Amino acid sequence: MTHHGLFISFEGIDGAGKSTHIDGLANAFRSGGRAVTLTREPGGTLLAEKLRCLVLEDAMDPLTESLLIFAARRDHVVRVIAPALLRGEVVLCDRFTDATFAYQGAGRGFDLQVLSTLERWVQADEGLLGDPAGNQPMKPEVETVIEPDLTIWFDLPPEDAALRLAGSRVPDRFESQPVEFFHRVAQGYVQRQQGHAERFARIDASQVRDAVWQCVLQAVVEKGWLGAEVSDKT
Ligand code: TYD
Repeated sequence: MTHHGLFISFEGIDGAGKSTHIDGLANAFRSGGRAVTLTREPGGTLLAEKLRCLVLEDAMDPLTESLLIFAARRDHVVRVIAPALLRGEVVLCDRFTDATFAYQGAGRGFDLQVLSTLERWVQADEGLLGDPAGNQPMKPEVETVIEPDLTIWFDLPPEDAALRLAGSRVPDRFESQPVEFFHRVAQGYVQRQQGHAERFARIDASQVRDAVWQCVLQAVVEKGWLGAEVSDKT
């Protein structure tokens, strides 16, 4: 390992209810004395937030959409995620590349191999995370990809998610998709989990909020990243 940071992503279809738990986890880590970078995708930098607006609002073909999302991701990784990890912080990221495989890949039907290639290019470490001895950026000998240490996946049936979202706000380009789209996205997450089982924690997001929160905490406590006493304090 070349840094002492932790990278945790949060995933799930729209309406799965991840936001409050991300804030809760940030507070739990801060109470435990860790510095936290709270961020999101698409977004997290000035440039990436501009790209987010385009992706969520303007009509475009799936390749353009995927390229803009990965362009935003590159800027985010280089400017925010890698430096925070290098400083030893906990990075909590509302969505990351699993969302691209689920939404653009499974949802839109875009070529998964192209997405894998973009993932390798955009998340190539290329020394961004430093070397073990001096923590100075260096060129790694083996090609490594920056990806989450843990992905907390809020799994919820698309029909339930649609009910939660109904009437809550003006839907963006994704939220306004029919429920069949979210069935494909949900299946995309299942496939991603199968390919990356070691870093995925699936949470049954149909439970009441406090039960979901206990599962979120448990996923982190099990890794040894937070003390078990945290769950008593929350
Ligand atoms: P979301 O994270 O749900 O934020 P908010 O709660 O503010 O709506 O919205 C981001 C949307 O972007 C969501 O509908 C999923 C979509 N998205 C992709 O299609 N591909 C991606 O790679 C990412 C990160 C998000």
